[in-house]
Amino acid sequence: MPADRPRAFSGIQPTAGSFHLGNYLGAIRQYVALQETHDAFYSVVDLHAMTIPQDPAVLRANTRLATAQLLAAGLDPERCTLFVQSHVPEHAQLGWLMNCLTGFGEASRMTQFKDKSARQGAERTSVGLFTYPVLQVADILLYHARHVPVGEDQRQHIELTRDLAERFNARYGDTFTVPDVHIVKETGKIYDLQDPAVKMSKSASTPKGIVNLLDEPGVSAKKIRSAVTDTETVIRFDPERKPGVSNLLTVYATLTGRTVADLEAAYEGKGYGALKTDLAQVVADWAAPFRERAREYLDDPETLDGILAKGAEKARTVAAETLAAAYDRVGLLPAKH
Ligand code: TYM
Repeated sequence: MPADRPRAFSGIQPTAGSFHLGNYLGAIRQYVALQETHDAFYSVVDLHAMTIPQDPAVLRANTRLATAQLLAAGLDPERCTLFVQSHVPEHAQLGWLMNCLTGFGEASRMTQFKDKSARQGAERTSVGLFTYPVLQVADILLYHARHVPVGEDQRQHIELTRDLAERFNARYGDTFTVPDVHIVKETGKIYDLQDPAVKMSKSASTPKGIVNLLDEPGVSAKKIRSAVTDTETVIRFDPERKPGVSNLLTVYATLTGRTVADLEAAYEGKGYGALKTDLAQVVADWAAPFRERAREYLDDPETLDGILAKGAEKARTVAAETLAAAYDRVGLLPAKH
């Protein structure tokens, strides 16, 4: 990998078993694209997953499952560095430094935390969930990432990353690269099929609005056919007035490479039923080889673990150097060996 390529970093949680269409269209597709142009590092962030209670066996299985899905979606270990966050201890170590640089009020303003803690109540909310964005900051800064491909819901966390990088650099001297968020406007927020006012999310109140990539085609088709639309009949892209239909058009256009204008023309005079039936087929056609490839990786855990071992080794080389520089800058006494 030529060293002059800009760095990219992103992370994805192994919490839900299957990734959903929002994860794929908002983030994973961009990971796949950026591995061609960037020195890209992608991490299955198992430490982040622990901010809510996890069954140990399920967490372990889901970490492999997440890796298999990333590979099935097109990540190529020859073109990018793919690793598990806990395999690189520098994440937690730099996380501590970043915790000490973050204001309590600043962390309290993170909207994802506010939403989640409001939903589950303060008593059931861990301190880990509160400092979760700060660990994310460490993830990104360790690799001197210039670009961070994410969905719209992560924008505030990348802003925090920029703020903390600038603060550290101002206080201790130039150490970290200040990253830019990389959000694709069209697909940065894919909406819930049952409630197109909110993003598609694994923590949604009902699974009916979420299209999971590993679902059987029949299951996805049923969800797409019962997607909430509106009382008109015209198929037109208008996110303000027709959020449901517009969301379906976005998914359709992105998965097929067709433009929204082309789809609007093709469906002129046709009803929502036709659009939904065809989209269900588009999703099924995309998902079939994806599921097949994911299955192959899961059936061969040795290969999978080998890819992760190589990834962690590459990641550690970069991370260790950055952490050592940061430790030195803040005045931690080096250990004598
Ligand atoms: P996570 O695991 O919740 O989601 C993974 C990625 O999927 C995107 N995404 C969506 N994009 C469009 N529409 C949606 N409905 C949708 N739902 C999810 C997310 O924006 C994300 O890019 N905090 C992160 C993980 C993380 C991270 C990092 C990301 C940890 N460290 C460092 C970037 C850099 C998270 O919980 O993503």
